[in-house]
Amino acid sequence: MQSGYVHGYSEREATRLADQANCLSDLLHHDSIFPENSLILEAGCGIGAQTKIVAPKNPKSKFISIDISEESLQEAKSLIQSLNIRNVEFQSGDIFKMDYTDEYFDHILVCFVLEHLPKPLDALQSLKRILKKGGTITLIEGDHGSAYFYPDSRYARSAIDCQVQLQKSNGGNALIGRELYPLLVNAGFLECSVSPRMVYVDSSRPELVEGFTRNTFTAMIEGVRDKAISGSLIDKSSFEKGIEDLYRTSESDGVFCYTFFKGIGYK
Ligand SMILES: C[S@@+](CC[C@H](N)C(=O)[O-])C[C@H]1O[C@@H](n2cnc3c(N)ncnc32)[C@H](O)[C@@H]1O
Repeated sequence: MQSGYVHGYSEREATRLADQANCLSDLLHHDSIFPENSLILEAGCGIGAQTKIVAPKNPKSKFISIDISEESLQEAKSLIQSLNIRNVEFQSGDIFKMDYTDEYFDHILVCFVLEHLPKPLDALQSLKRILKKGGTITLIEGDHGSAYFYPDSRYARSAIDCQVQLQKSNGGNALIGRELYPLLVNAGFLECSVSPRMVYVDSSRPELVEGFTRNTFTAMIEGVRDKAISGSLIDKSSFEKGIEDLYRTSESDGVFCYTFFKGIGYK
């Protein structure tokens, strides 16, 4: 999975993940509060972009944040240290091969990871084994089918579709948000619920224009430019027009909408 991770591990991608987490922190995490004294697994923590938001919200709990990428873990460690956040321990680990004993964690958080995994249901089952009875799993994912904007553009939609296809050919699923409920239920979690979290951006919200439309979403689509063109998914000028049209939605009369999904299930 690591080598096929569609967004890669570049510095630009690290900045994009940080922008994404910062501008969406209230929308996605205003309710990421766990009971005090919990032991929480953050599976697939990446560079710590969510860790730095969620860990300080739960100062009396301890986080074990794991990732398969050593490089990302190193970055996450220095970020969390630099912020003097003390309730996080980083460990190297693969979601599919967890060493922890059964029912080890009180709660589990998985953010923007399932969309990259060829077998998300197996991942959930692997995580369920190490979750205590009565504990919760929280999943947060996007769904690129939920992107719509003004002015509309078939080029922009085709450029987005390149990302969907490339992610699919890497074994992932950029449309996974809509599947969180069935995934949780099929993995055997109880009392499952999903709340859609819509990001609505127009020029009256300049932080979201920069942080979300430009630096998170459009930057992500721009990031697959070379692979999309060399893989003949689209021609160069159509892709470039698509990116131009996505940036166009961030102008003074533009609008951009996208929905994230946050799902919770109990063991
Ligand atoms: C899009 S990043 C999200 C990182 C972080 N959760 C965030 O929201 O900023 C996906 C992360 O999942 C990690 N990952 C992918 N497959 C994994 C696996 N099998 N076990 C652990 N981590 C994995 C990747 O290395 C990457 O850091």
